[in-house]
Amino acid sequence: MEVDLTQNLVSAEESEEDEILFSLRPKSMAEYIGQQNIRENLSICLIAAKKRKEPVEHLMLYGPPGLGKTTLAHIVANEMGANIRVTSGPAIERAGDLASILTNLSDGDILFIDEIHRLNRNIEEVLYPAMEDYAIDLILGKGPSAKTMRIDLPRFTLVGATTKMGSLSSPLRDRFGVSFRLEFYSEEELSEIIKRAASILNIDIDKEGIEEISKRARRTPRIANRILKRVRDFAEVKHSGKITKSIAKEALKSLEIDELGLDKNDREYLSCIINKFGGGPVGVETIAAAISEDRDTIEDMIEPYLIQIGFIDRTRRGRVATGAAFAHLGVAETSDSQKRLI
Ligand SMILES: Nc1ncnc2c1ncn2[C@@H]1O[C@H](COP(=O)(O)OP(=O)(O)OP(=O)(O)O)[C@@H](O)[C@H]1O
Ligand SMILES: [Mg+2]
Repeated sequence: MEVDLTQNLVSAEESEEDEILFSLRPKSMAEYIGQQNIRENLSICLIAAKKRKEPVEHLMLYGPPGLGKTTLAHIVANEMGANIRVTSGPAIERAGDLASILTNLSDGDILFIDEIHRLNRNIEEVLYPAMEDYAIDLILGKGPSAKTMRIDLPRFTLVGATTKMGSLSSPLRDRFGVSFRLEFYSEEELSEIIKRAASILNIDIDKEGIEEISKRARRTPRIANRILKRVRDFAEVKHSGKITKSIAKEALKSLEIDELGLDKNDREYLSCIINKFGGGPVGVETIAAAISEDRDTIEDMIEPYLIQIGFIDRTRRGRVATGAAFAHLGVAETSDSQKRLI
């Protein structure tokens, strides 16, 4: 049987497989690894709210996919002993849908709206009084005789998550009491995450094996967990089952993930900027057309990590590949390309 192991492996996008990975989701703040600053500040918010017997302030979590936003939202609910209602921006099609979700909440409940930047503006407006005054305004009737009726809501907490803070409207953004940006993880933190996942999944892996995977997981827990499972398959089918450094290397090579964790898509993106457009600047739409990938995937999945490791700069005139990216692809940088950054 031929299985395409490379498929989607280093994409940080959620997939069905994540249902299985669900068991790997830390349930409490103590189990949540890394994001020290968020953990500290969020814990203070939670403890203070508990002391005052009030709901937690509306909370915004943002950052690239797979860094633990959904996980944190569930942890907030767990730590508060509250119910969590989960929905997402694109799932809410009409203002009435949102009104019905809101009126069905109970005191202290958490409402988690994933991809909140994709809420329609007219639906979003329902949230303004809901967040500020715990109320919604219903419009009864039409035309000049229309009346508005205010309905009180339970005191709930809205937890919003987005990969695109910039796409959020400012009235909505301003109504969150606290917002936290999730950062990429260090290799040490990823190693801890892999170690924890391996023990939950009963995977035999040594320290060097863990390190090899953590170096190539694009500093993202979702990708680390996914690679771990693929490497385990490899170790079980081709070897005795135990993951060592050399087996991890061999598996990652066959998965076409390089030393920096870049996969075929990343390399294609870089090669497009460097080989087709002389290193840039080139607009994201042009790149998208050249590699037949949609713009959102490029901006959400491919670029954040490449920017983080200093391979790409976003300039006003478009994307520019840096010297490090040229070196990684083994392409000599021309003097012309060095001027591009100015
Ligand atoms: N701090 C952490 N410690 C341990 N495991 C983590 C941590 N953060 C995330 N994970 C693991 O990574 C997986 C992905 O995390 P999560 O689904 O919370 O990401 P997300 O930020 O919501 O991504 P998206 O933007 O795609 O919705 C989780 O299933 C969990 O197993
Ligand atoms: Mg999520």
